[in-house]
Amino acid sequence: MPYDVTVIEHPLIDALLTQIRRAETKSGTFRRNLHTISRLMSFEVTRDLPCRDIEVTTPLATTQGSELIRDVVMIPILRAGTGMLNGIIDILPEAKIGHIGMVRDETTCLPRNYYCNLPEGIDDSDVLLIDPMLATGHSSAAAAAQLKAHGAKNIRFVCLVACPEGIKYFCEEHPDIPVYTAAIDKELDENSYIIPGLGDAGDRYFDTE
Ligand code: URA
Repeated sequence: MPYDVTVIEHPLIDALLTQIRRAETKSGTFRRNLHTISRLMSFEVTRDLPCRDIEVTTPLATTQGSELIRDVVMIPILRAGTGMLNGIIDILPEAKIGHIGMVRDETTCLPRNYYCNLPEGIDDSDVLLIDPMLATGHSSAAAAAQLKAHGAKNIRFVCLVACPEGIKYFCEEHPDIPVYTAAIDKELDENSYIIPGLGDAGDRYFDTE
């Protein structure tokens, strides 16, 4: 693969993802599984975050430890990104959180930004941009461009399911941003849904139509 894409392979992730692909799976299981998958993925996504050595004093002695060099900022793309955020937040409870709102124009399939609220210090943070479905790549690429316009330099993109078209578009727009996904599916359909995918991630998570 000519792009910086990591497929996080793990039997638990695969089994949980298989359950939420199933059309009959209800929103309760969908939510729970998406949270667990995101939490499991976040170990790989954050594996090489830069750390520095520090000294720490326990109740009994002084020893060497480490801490993250930079703050972590998480940016879910509204609205489906909040589903993954709710899982990742468990392992990064101190992270700052911003939001970017994108809607897809169902006629043109192009993204329109309707909301942007980013925390201070994004330029000096490790930023996780989060959206479960890397479909056309247009929304996530536009969101990444918005983060860069606000000074973000260390960005990682985290999704659940990607497809070749979305990977190509996103990675060619942002070759400096590594992509982490649990699966790469076959293709996009004529409505820009991922096949086989899991349907509309936001609708399935929020139980809307
Ligand atoms: N967004 C979704 O929620 N699902 C897709 O398959 C594509 C975009």
